[in-house]
Amino acid sequence: MAFKSRILVVDDDPEVCDVAAEMLRDNAHLAVATETDPEKAIGLVKGSQFDLILTDLMMGSHSGMEMLEAALEADPDTVVVFMTGYPTVENATQALKCGAYDFLVKPFQLGQLLATVERGLRKLQLSRENIRLKEQLALFKIAEAMGLTIHLSTALNQVLKLTMKEFHVEAASILLFDPSKPTPFVVQALQTQSGIDRSFLEGKTNHSLLAVKSKIVEIENVYASSVASEDILEQDRITTYLSCPLLIRGRVIGVLNMQRANVHHEFATGELQSLKVIASKAAYAISNSKLYDDLEKAYLSTIMALANAVEARDRYTSGHTVRVTYLAELIAREFGWDEERMFILSMGCSLHDIGKIGVPDSILNKPGFLNQREMTIMRKHTELGARIVEGIDFLRPCLPYIIAHHEWWDGSGYPSGLKDERIPREGRILAVADSFDAMVTDRPYRRSRSIEQAVQELVDFSGKQFDPAIVEIFLAALDKHREKIEVIYGAAVSDGSFRTAPAKT
Ligand SMILES: [Fe+2]
Repeated sequence: MAFKSRILVVDDDPEVCDVAAEMLRDNAHLAVATETDPEKAIGLVKGSQFDLILTDLMMGSHSGMEMLEAALEADPDTVVVFMTGYPTVENATQALKCGAYDFLVKPFQLGQLLATVERGLRKLQLSRENIRLKEQLALFKIAEAMGLTIHLSTALNQVLKLTMKEFHVEAASILLFDPSKPTPFVVQALQTQSGIDRSFLEGKTNHSLLAVKSKIVEIENVYASSVASEDILEQDRITTYLSCPLLIRGRVIGVLNMQRANVHHEFATGELQSLKVIASKAAYAISNSKLYDDLEKAYLSTIMALANAVEARDRYTSGHTVRVTYLAELIAREFGWDEERMFILSMGCSLHDIGKIGVPDSILNKPGFLNQREMTIMRKHTELGARIVEGIDFLRPCLPYIIAHHEWWDGSGYPSGLKDERIPREGRILAVADSFDAMVTDRPYRRSRSIEQAVQELVDFSGKQFDPAIVEIFLAALDKHREKIEVIYGAAVSDGSFRTAPAKT
């Protein structure tokens, strides 16, 4: 059954109410209520949603303008039509300016009344469809963006970019609630054009947190005090702020702030409605993404615990992965890798020998050299490690570190015998860092070498085992961070130790 449009007729003259209601009730699609007491009518409007209100303009001490105000406050799309027996141009202009839809002059004909009501309801339907379309489009874009990324900060920045585009704003930010922080609203993402004061966006003004202080005031639209200025140039400098809470089951998880630096484009009622829906969907998406991040962290800490357990079994390699990660980072930084790639490097280095979980203790800790059979088992750790992580989506980027860190530049390494730049750069970087650390620490089959000897070994095997370019970068990085290297390995390094030029091939 189709919903009927809800209409309220308000007039202190009962005859007008009755006549109008009778005319409208002939239409099966309309549900009509009448009220002769303006006070009661305002209560009705506030407590119940009407699609269209026909109201007298003057009702004793009450004005139809009060009705208009209450109706638009209840639902900004409500269609309000004034009825008056004393039409003036001023009345009409004032009413339309305040948001009334149309004017009917009493006494009116049936045809006039029906035509006005039908036009009003059609306008309402179009406006609601337009808002729904906008919402759906924005939601689709946000959902699409959120679906493409697994990292919270990337997801939030995408929400902001879309919000800025959809709402034509110059700056936007998302602050998320973190009760563990001294200032509980922490900026998670911020997008702004240059030259815009960031204090509102960073939650340093009262405006930006208005939405948070009260759950009732969901959106606060604040104008600068100079809004009343007659000077047009002055008005151009006015900034409109908007702060919208991000709610999950009534709980504020953060706020979405927007800043529009031009009074001529203040936020329209329809936009505010769309924003409420978008903020609600974005809040859920953020919550899901945050859950995913938490899940990822939990998963990662489980894997790291596993990697630490492997390291703990090998009594000679305590702290090996931490040192190797540090050394590999020194090299990667020289390549200008971004934060995401550095994070993968850190995971890859930490997990590079995870396959040793399948190597028996008797082989892992055997004093002296391994025989052929034992060596074959030991060498399986790269493929075994790859099999462990390849089934876990977010660890898959670590595969090049795990599978390729024992490949040799001249093709004589394992497991695939890859050569030169066909070995992933990740594997080539780790090979240098891993070998250096292995050389300067005790192993079951030999005592540690000095840093100088290890450097010489890297140089000697540059172009054979190691990528010459990476050896060169590594030695330069060691030289740059000499003091830290001395602390890590507890050994003084003589000046110039790292400046030995690698053999060129
Ligand atoms: Fe290894």
